[in-house]
Amino acid sequence: MLERIKSLREKAIQELEALTDSTSLEEWKRSYLGKKGLVTQLLRQIGSLPPEERPKAGEAANLLRDELTQLYEEKASAIKEAERLQAAKAQAIDVTLPGRRPQIGALHPVTQTLREIIEIFSRMGFGVYEGPEVEWDDYNFGLLNIPPEHPARDMWDTLYIAPPYGKEGNMLLRTHTSPDQIRVMELMRPPIRVVVPGRCYRHEATDASHEWMFYQVEGLAVDKGITMAHLKGVLTTFVREMFGKERKVRFRCDYFPFVEPGADMAMDCIVCGGKGCRVCKFTGWLEILGAGMVHPQVLRNVGIDPNIYTGFAFGMGVERIAMLKHKIDDIRYFYANDLRFLKQFRA
Ligand code: DAH
Repeated sequence: MLERIKSLREKAIQELEALTDSTSLEEWKRSYLGKKGLVTQLLRQIGSLPPEERPKAGEAANLLRDELTQLYEEKASAIKEAERLQAAKAQAIDVTLPGRRPQIGALHPVTQTLREIIEIFSRMGFGVYEGPEVEWDDYNFGLLNIPPEHPARDMWDTLYIAPPYGKEGNMLLRTHTSPDQIRVMELMRPPIRVVVPGRCYRHEATDASHEWMFYQVEGLAVDKGITMAHLKGVLTTFVREMFGKERKVRFRCDYFPFVEPGADMAMDCIVCGGKGCRVCKFTGWLEILGAGMVHPQVLRNVGIDPNIYTGFAFGMGVERIAMLKHKIDDIRYFYANDLRFLKQFRA
């Protein structure tokens, strides 16, 4: 019997030492010290031994039970501590892992171009004004000499956002930045020299050169003695600052209801130098903006006497300038949010 106790002890201790988790520890406890455990069974057998063997065997078996219980408790607290440490480790930040590289943003190519345009005009003494994107019909059209039913409205179809009310008529998303000529002249008297950057909207079937939302920069100069020569000088300077000193410019008659005379300005094609290519549609010229002398009626509409003051105005599409500058062949890239496109313009 003593031999059996001894070998059971060795086996139990050996098994216990190999344990590393609480589940198998509990199993171990059940198989030795549980109700049907090996040690418990052993203790029960003591009674059936010959009387002379009982005291020694009983003592040894009791000692074994006490020893294993003690060892179990020690092991249990060791495992508990190890498991607690491991859980803490799993939650902890591993400072040796390489960090996640932050994505560095950049200005949108249209913003970059817009800033460049504004900078050039501010060097020529132009201030910056911004007006609302949601505009009254009267400012977008009426006060600019485009009364209701005027055929020029077809060129600027837009999104109307409220039924007619008040003396200004409909509310709409502005189709150009020209209404801000009116707003500026209502706010200040000549001398005026401002550029107005901003978003415009049109009811448009989009294609490679038309978007339903785009940016314009409007320009306005009003003072005594302003002539077409000032218009040509300022805009020629702009083109040469933006696209290079060697650029040639061309002014042709054009019609806009709010200017008289009106003009469109073109520069020689930056791709072929004027010889003719696909970009300039084999004309050698790239049209970049509309301009003209502020119509006397527009001045009268804001209470400026056209017999004393004259002015010039212009309006250009910022995406168009950016497309020419970077040789981009489809306006829709700008607002498609494709990072493969946008990442090329990290300044
Ligand atoms: N507002 C015009 C457009 O969107 C552009 C324009 C033409 C603006 C002539 C002007 C101008 O100030 O004088 O098509």
